Amino acid sequence: MRAADPQKLDALVGRLVGDVGACVTGALIVLGDQLGLYKAMADGEPVSAAALAEKTGCKERYVREWLAAQAAAGYVDYDEGSDRFSLSPEQAVAFADEGSPAFFAGAFEVVQSMWVDEPKVEEAFRSGSGLGWHEHSKCLFRGTERFFRPGYNAHLTTEWIPALEGVHDKLMSGATVADVGCGHGASTILMAQAYPKSRFFGFDYHGPSIERAREAAEKAGVGERIVFERASAKDFPAQGYDLVAMFDCLHDMGDPVGAGHHVRETLAGDGTWMIVEPFAHDKLKDNLNPVGRIYYGASTMICTPASLSQEVGLGLGAQAGEMRLRKVALDAGFSRFRRATETPFNMVFEARA
Ligand SMILES: C[S@@+](CC[C@H](N)C(=O)[O-])C[C@H]1O[C@@H](n2cnc3c(N)ncnc32)[C@H](O)[C@@H]1O
Repeated sequence: MRAADPQKLDALVGRLVGDVGACVTGALIVLGDQLGLYKAMADGEPVSAAALAEKTGCKERYVREWLAAQAAAGYVDYDEGSDRFSLSPEQAVAFADEGSPAFFAGAFEVVQSMWVDEPKVEEAFRSGSGLGWHEHSKCLFRGTERFFRPGYNAHLTTEWIPALEGVHDKLMSGATVADVGCGHGASTILMAQAYPKSRFFGFDYHGPSIERAREAAEKAGVGERIVFERASAKDFPAQGYDLVAMFDCLHDMGDPVGAGHHVRETLAGDGTWMIVEPFAHDKLKDNLNPVGRIYYGASTMICTPASLSQEVGLGLGAQAGEMRLRKVALDAGFSRFRRATETPFNMVFEARA
């Protein structure tokens, strides 16, 4: 072993203590989310462990330990005098407000799937085989919906679609839209609610996600205006779409160029291909930051194996960056490609024939 610099080692160990704490707390966040502990505290009223246990139908001894761990993490506040715990308004938003862009509990369900499915990814590293989206644990599908939906609520119909040339007006007056790789349909449902004169189709190759999307659309009262069908990005039916949208899924596909070719064939002459991808710079060194850390991690465990499991297996990765995405669109036969807008987490591209 080479001699380590004691000061640098101390600094690294300090960081690792924080990271181990984050991993441990992650499991406890999933637990609190599943058991409804955060939601039961969302009103901000200070509660004892016994009262929270009673409110949620859990055992007091467990709840007390969970609350202590949450207080140590800074995710609930603790008052020693009354021995009670409470959620600040900000903590309540992060852990109990499903609609807020700052809601984070869903993200930890995605992280949960990475731990649960790690042995499968490990095997894929050795064999070089892929691991399909459908081969992951259910918590990935639910977590993805809960993690992404708040961002779509905040930006999709108010900023992203209006940033595309002429698309908002078309959708207002009545257009035909396909949401490809729609997962649980959060984006499709949101668009259907915002544009009542338009017709929507949601496609995904993962059957259980399509079933879940249908249920969600019924529940949201837009079931009659969206057709959800199981189909891959290369064989979904042509309808002369005014808009084909892909939310955070192009890089998961094995053949994004083939998918792009198919989009071109299914679009109306002046139709638009909207591609929403994770925010990334073109160069690796520029993505070495906290957001890049999350995306490269998810890409290693989920997105790249998904792409490698499909034909062609391009393996774009979740940090492909604009240059590589532009090449995909141009190789697919589109002649115009531009970044319409962005957030710290997403880039929104528009491709036209
Ligand atoms: C990260 S999820 C995004 C889901 C959804 N668009 C959202 O934003 O919540 C990626 C989705 O792409 C789908 N997918 C992957 N490859 C596909 C393909 N070749 N054709 C259709 N869907 C695909 C997966 O089944 C999964 O639902």
